[in-house]
Amino acid sequence: MISLNNKRILLGVSGSIAAYKSAELVRRLKEANAEVRVVLTKGGAEFVTPLTFQALSGNPAHTNLLDTETEAAMGHIELARWADAILIAPASANFIARLAQGRADDLLSAICLATSSTVAIAPAMNQQMWANAATQENLQQLKQRDILQFGPGDGNQACGETGPGRMLEASQLAAHVAEIFETGLLSEDTVLLIAGPTQEAIDPVRYLSNRSSGKMGYAIAQAAAEAGAKVILISGPTSLATPPRVERINVRSAQQMFDAVMQHVAHSDIFISAAAVADYRPVRIAGQKIKKTEDTLTLELQRNPDILAEVAALKNAPFTVGFAAETENLEQYAREKLARKGIDMIAANLVGEDIAFEADENTLLVLTAENKQPLARASKFILGRQLIDIIAKQKYNVSI
Ligand code: C5P
Repeated sequence: MISLNNKRILLGVSGSIAAYKSAELVRRLKEANAEVRVVLTKGGAEFVTPLTFQALSGNPAHTNLLDTETEAAMGHIELARWADAILIAPASANFIARLAQGRADDLLSAICLATSSTVAIAPAMNQQMWANAATQENLQQLKQRDILQFGPGDGNQACGETGPGRMLEASQLAAHVAEIFETGLLSEDTVLLIAGPTQEAIDPVRYLSNRSSGKMGYAIAQAAAEAGAKVILISGPTSLATPPRVERINVRSAQQMFDAVMQHVAHSDIFISAAAVADYRPVRIAGQKIKKTEDTLTLELQRNPDILAEVAALKNAPFTVGFAAETENLEQYAREKLARKGIDMIAANLVGEDIAFEADENTLLVLTAENKQPLARASKFILGRQLIDIIAKQKYNVSI
C-alpha cells in the first residue's frame, strides 16, 4: 500500500475523455492519506463536473483564475504554494502545449508557472496527436524543465484507434506520485533528530515550556525517512503523529533529551536539532504542589546542557544541523551561532505572529560556513524536503 501521508497533491484536470479516470485517481490518492485539491480547466470541466471532484476530494474544486470570490478564498499563488506536488491528469495535447509556452491565462497554467513544487503530467490523447512533432517537441521542452511525465500507456483508445496516448490507470498514477517523494538521497545514513519543546518540571503539576509545536522537526523526520534514511526522532511532548518508518523516543525534559541523544549519537551520521530545548530548568523540583502564599514567588534556574553544541564537540561528531529562531538580525545571529556551536549547518528563521512557531508554514535561511541558501515561504513539509536535499548535497560534497 502506497503512502502519501501529509502530502498535499494538487490534481489538474484538462480536457480529455480520460478525465473520468481522474475521479478514481482522487480516491486512490485519498486512500494513501493525501490531501487533494482539484483544479479543472474549462475543457476538463466539460468532461467531469467540478461537483464530482469536490465530493470526492472533500475540498472545493477550483476552475477560475479571475474570479474575485475564489481568488479571495484560495488564489493561484496560494494553491501553487499549498501543493507538495502537482499532477496534471489527464494532460491534453493542448494543455501540454500551453505548459510548454509558459502561459498563465487560466488557473491551472498560472499555478504551474507560480509553483516551486514538482510538476508531473499524465498525457492523454489520440495516438496521432501524440506522435505529432509539435507535441513531441513540447514534451521535450517540459522534460528539460524537470517536469515529470507519467505514461502514456499504449492500447485501445476512446476514439477507436490503437496506439500510444492512453492515460495510465489511477492506481499506477498514484504510485508514481508517491515515488516523487522517495528520493533515496540518504539511504546510507542514520539521522538522529530532536524536535518539539521540552518541559522543565517546577512541581508535580507545573512546568516551564515554550510554544514549539514540533511540526518543523516532524516534517524533517518524515522527509529524511522518505529520502531512505533510518530515522530516530527524540521528541519532546507534542500532539503530532509519528511519521511512517520513523522510530520515536519520547522525552520531557532537556536533560532526558540530552541523555537520549548521547545514547544514540554514536551510530548516527547526521544530527538535526530542531527542538526548542529549554535553556534553563528549575534548580529544585518541589516534591509537592507549590501553594500560593506570598505575593511574589522566585524560581531559581540553572542552565541546561546545550545538546547541539555538545554533539558538535564529540570526537566523531556526525554532520550537525542546528536551528536559529530570531526576531532580528537573522543572518548575523545565525552565523555567530554556527561558529560558536561549531556546527556544519544552521537553518535560521524569523519568528513572528503567523509564521514559525505553531504555524504550518515557515521560511528558512540555510547557512554553512561558505554558503547561504534562502528557502521561500512554504509548508513545513516542503521545507523539510528542501532541507534534507541541501543536507545530502552538502554532506556528499556537492556545492549548494
Ligand atoms: O542558542 P540557541 O538556543 O538559540 O540555539 C538554537 C539551536 O540550539 C537549536 O538547534 C536548538 O535545538 C539547539 N539547542 C540545544 N540545546 C539547548 C538549546 C538549544 O541543542 N539547550
